[in-house]
Amino acid sequence: MTACNEKEPAQPTPASACRDFNFAALVIGPPQCGKTTFVRGLVVDHLRRYPTGLAFVHDPNLQFRDICPAYEDVHAWRRAFDAATVSRTPISRGACVGGQWSDVRAMAVAIGRARNTAGNVRVPILLACDESSMIGDSGRSYVAQEELQLLSTRRHLGVGPVYNAQQATSLVDAFYALATDVIAFAQRSERETLKLEERCGLPEGALASLVGAARYHYVRIQAGRIV
Ligand SMILES: Nc1ncnc2c1ncn2[C@@H]1O[C@H](COP(=O)(O)OP(=O)(O)OP(=O)(O)O)[C@@H](O)[C@H]1O
Ligand SMILES: [Mg+2]
Repeated sequence: MTACNEKEPAQPTPASACRDFNFAALVIGPPQCGKTTFVRGLVVDHLRRYPTGLAFVHDPNLQFRDICPAYEDVHAWRRAFDAATVSRTPISRGACVGGQWSDVRAMAVAIGRARNTAGNVRVPILLACDESSMIGDSGRSYVAQEELQLLSTRRHLGVGPVYNAQQATSLVDAFYALATDVIAFAQRSERETLKLEERCGLPEGALASLVGAARYHYVRIQAGRIV
């Protein structure tokens, strides 16, 4: 994951504050290739790495329930958070939240806006969904606008969005332009691989080794380079 800037801050800040949290990932691969499993790893890493961090996963299928408590919707999470605040008991920093994806996204944005600014991210928030989350909302073009707004303001909000999709073309080109990381899993067709290369700004053939690669194999692409 793209790191917080670990250098000493010029001004004293809480020990766990980040100066910068700049992360946005696209996880692309055919059905059952390991996308959700990869995102589970991101959630665990995020919570381990950032002691004040939060992770919200839109998880109507309850695939994260064993690593994060599940809440029916954002209202249920808010109630649990308020109750924990009153009783001064800790609440899990990771949460899988049902209901509408747009509500989960709006909650993460509101928390990020209240707690973070670019250069002083006190509560780094990982926010994950997969494409079924977005399709389940309203029309795709509207959703894309909201997502792109989040992607382009994420550093100010301290929110790191993670989108999971089975096809490269499920996400419009701007997602690729704004993401810090693209995780590309083994592909079943050369055609799909070419689309992915184009969107990631890679030369033709750069991802050829993904075609027919072993199940669960993936490469990470950052700034137009396989890393
Ligand atoms: N690296 C891995 N090693 C072994 N098993 C794995 C690995 N990654 C995923 N799996 C297993 O493969 C199955 C599919 O994984 P997962 O649900 O993560 O795929 P997916 O790409 O999210 O699927 P879908 O497109 O249907 O959402 C699961 O049973 C999971 O436990
Ligand atoms: Mg999945």
